[in-house]
Amino acid sequence: MTELLQDAAARAQVYFSGLDDRAVAPTTEALAALSGFAGPWPETGLDPADVLAKLDRLGGPGTMASAGPRYFGFVTGGSLPVALAANWLASAWNQNAFSSTSSPLGAALETACLGWLREIFGLPATAGGAFVTGATMANFTGLAAARHAVLAKVGWDVERDGLFGAPPITVLAGGEGHAALLKAVRMLGLGEGRVKALAVDGQGAIRPDALPPIAGPTILCLQAGNVNSGAFDPAQALIARAQEQGAWVHVDGAFGIWAKAAPGRAHLALGYELADSLAVDGHKWLNVPYDSGIALIREPNALRAAMSVSAAYLPDQDVREPYDYTPECSRRLRAADIWAALASLGREGLAELIETCCRHGSMMATGLRAAGFEVLNQVDLNQVLVSFGADEHTLRVIAALQADGTAWCGGTHWRDRAAMRISFSSWATRDEDVEKTLAAIIRIARANNAG
Ligand SMILES: Cc1ncc(COP(=O)(O)O)c(C=O)c1O
Repeated sequence: MTELLQDAAARAQVYFSGLDDRAVAPTTEALAALSGFAGPWPETGLDPADVLAKLDRLGGPGTMASAGPRYFGFVTGGSLPVALAANWLASAWNQNAFSSTSSPLGAALETACLGWLREIFGLPATAGGAFVTGATMANFTGLAAARHAVLAKVGWDVERDGLFGAPPITVLAGGEGHAALLKAVRMLGLGEGRVKALAVDGQGAIRPDALPPIAGPTILCLQAGNVNSGAFDPAQALIARAQEQGAWVHVDGAFGIWAKAAPGRAHLALGYELADSLAVDGHKWLNVPYDSGIALIREPNALRAAMSVSAAYLPDQDVREPYDYTPECSRRLRAADIWAALASLGREGLAELIETCCRHGSMMATGLRAAGFEVLNQVDLNQVLVSFGADEHTLRVIAALQADGTAWCGGTHWRDRAAMRISFSSWATRDEDVEKTLAAIIRIARANNAG
């Protein structure tokens, strides 16, 4: 056991020390070598040390270097060293965070984290929450609470009677809502095709005048941080108005809601503290290892009603039982990584992490504009969209940058145009990485006659 774990730690260290110099995407040879994992299942098991060595030999070079400083794809955090170390320790403990009986530690860490998270996002001391796999499940969890609450208000018990014959629920969401939100809507039987898309502005944020009159069970879904532009729906204009008319307001704040933690950016997320439910990612901007998301609910009894297994399975308890709030029963000790990250960063460190990523976004946007390229979004947060002229030029530059290996940025569609999306979400990125990436993009774009 000792040797094996030390071997794993040593291999991880070698991996980290090589991240700065290797190509961000795996090479063609490294990808070809991944087929070495398949083949007949051995009759006799391999020696554990050999298993680890093979995993590392084939797997390490086949990774996307998203733990390193120059991966800017999707919205991807690295792992803060302390969060990674806590994750290892928690894996060794192999706690089942299902309940306070199966893991008193899990229950205590969740309670501690919820306290800090309420503070960060400005939620009342009574707000509750659940630790889930990511923002998709956090959206699912928040919307499950919403579904319960809006139907309970009209006398319908959705947990008991399902949606067959239930009063219809109107779901309102911005026309630029994330696909993960719509997936959650589908999974809850609310029907993606029934979502009413609200008009958005040039940055993809819901227009303040787009809210229709609300009647009957209604869930308004807002977004704090558009995955492309980083834009925020206007919480101050919409939340109170929708709630006054009886709607439940759910917020997909996967990454953007962390703006609340940085004094210089908090104004972007003003008003979201009034939301009824909030979906947040840990594995994006908080930089904890995958998979980690949090659902926060203003009125936790709605979540408990949607998720509890107590009534059917276990006696009622006075203490907060994790299983009363999560879609899963057995699950890993996610709160250990989150607690470690928040404890080590503190208020100042978290503010600095968020602010630095935003500053890197501005640096990149300024550099791209100065080089004559068109930045398509208003860069207030951490996301930068850039076009290199005609769509085919932009696509060519994206492919060439990925093949070059200095950095990795993905492609997206923004307002009917192809764009390169550059997301600054990792603690590991330094100013010099931004400069190096900018230089590579400019070099590659010019070599491809773009701009
Ligand atoms: C706004 C938003 N919502 C939801 C998601 C999905 O998050 P996850 O992949 O953690 O489930 C993302 C991912 O980028 C996002 O940006």
